[in-house]
Amino acid sequence: MPQRDILDLLKDDHRVILSFLRALDAYADSLDCDSADPDGARVALEFVREFIEKGHHVREEEVLFRYLAEKGRGKNSDGRHLIHCHDEARDQLEGMRMATPPTTPDARTAFVWNARAYTALMREHMVLEESWLYPRVGELLSADDRRILAERLSRYGFPREASMEAAHRRIDALIQAAGRGFAEGAGQHPSPY
Ligand SMILES: [Fe+2]
Ligand SMILES: [Fe+2]
Repeated sequence: MPQRDILDLLKDDHRVILSFLRALDAYADSLDCDSADPDGARVALEFVREFIEKGHHVREEEVLFRYLAEKGRGKNSDGRHLIHCHDEARDQLEGMRMATPPTTPDARTAFVWNARAYTALMREHMVLEESWLYPRVGELLSADDRRILAERLSRYGFPREASMEAAHRRIDALIQAAGRGFAEGAGQHPSPY
């Protein structure tokens, strides 16, 4: 079976991150209830730190973007814009961190605001990467480029079954925290429908 290359692996990451963003949106919705489970915020931050910041963004910034820059292909304003998006998402991440645990009305409001901004930004960013960056990079990379990138990726934890397993465990825990918030808050906020 042909080896999956860096772009396939990064797209696999995106699928997992999209699942996480759906869970984070559900958790943010559940925080509207006074009885929401504050532990979900800790789990969400762990996922972002381990899978997105130490994983996906390192693979993009330290492996793919760096390689493109070395080759003189990543220095245009579009490339800088993608890195700027990672930094912008880190601002929202810091906002979530400062609001954790979301046990007061102010902290819940701050967590929800930052979480929703984070999920919107990350979705938009991944669409840009998959519709524009990755296809262009795919056309540029030679077989040699792909071999060098695979070697560099191996320094950052590929293969990564263990991190995938932990990521799915955290997503499940976040969905459960959201469910507990809705269940325990049922009746406190009558449905407007
Ligand atoms: Fe990215
Ligand atoms: Fe990405």
